[in-house]
Amino acid sequence: MRHVKGKVKRSLKWVIGAGLLLGAALQLTNPSHSNPPVVAGRDLLAAHPPPAPVAGFLREACYDCHSYETRWPWYSYVAPISWSLAGHVNDGRERLNFSEWPLDDPSRARKKWNRIADVVDSGDMPLRQYTWIHRKARLDAQQRGQLTQYAQQEASRLAAEK
Ligand code: HEC
Repeated sequence: MRHVKGKVKRSLKWVIGAGLLLGAALQLTNPSHSNPPVVAGRDLLAAHPPPAPVAGFLREACYDCHSYETRWPWYSYVAPISWSLAGHVNDGRERLNFSEWPLDDPSRARKKWNRIADVVDSGDMPLRQYTWIHRKARLDAQQRGQLTQYAQQEASRLAAEK
């Protein structure tokens, strides 16, 4: 009996050791966590800020994925979580980047505001996996309404400007 116990203990040690090694090796696969510099003249909140409450919603609920000012949490450095988080930020920035706002292109900006109004109104954004952890990024119905309304208002203003 004692002989068997010793064997089990030894294999357990192997399994734990291998697990730790694998975990450590995974960390080498961490994607980069870049935050390119923000140019004030190109960033929406810096160059053309909405009224304070709306600016606050954008910064709190959208900027982590749709700007160069991502606040990377500690667990974003832990593989395999890091793959998914960095993927969201890269995808998010590619589709919509408030740090690269088309200030000199009213027609593009108008399209962006229209899309923002759509996804905020429908509740598709911010991503649910995100608000699950980031409670401050949750928008209640009234905040959603305020942000949607501002986005629609900007879209109309820009349509007239063209
Ligand atoms: C956790 C990351 C994350 C947060 C936070 C987030 N988004 Fe997104 N967003 C994404 C990703 C990823 C995509 C692209 C994939 C998709 O559509 O699901 C996306 C897509 C979009 C699109 C679609 C762009 C297009 O190509 O049509 C809009 C508009 C958008 N987000 C607006 C917002 C707004 C506004 C907020 C804040 C209220 C927000 N997002 C918060 C990750 C995020």
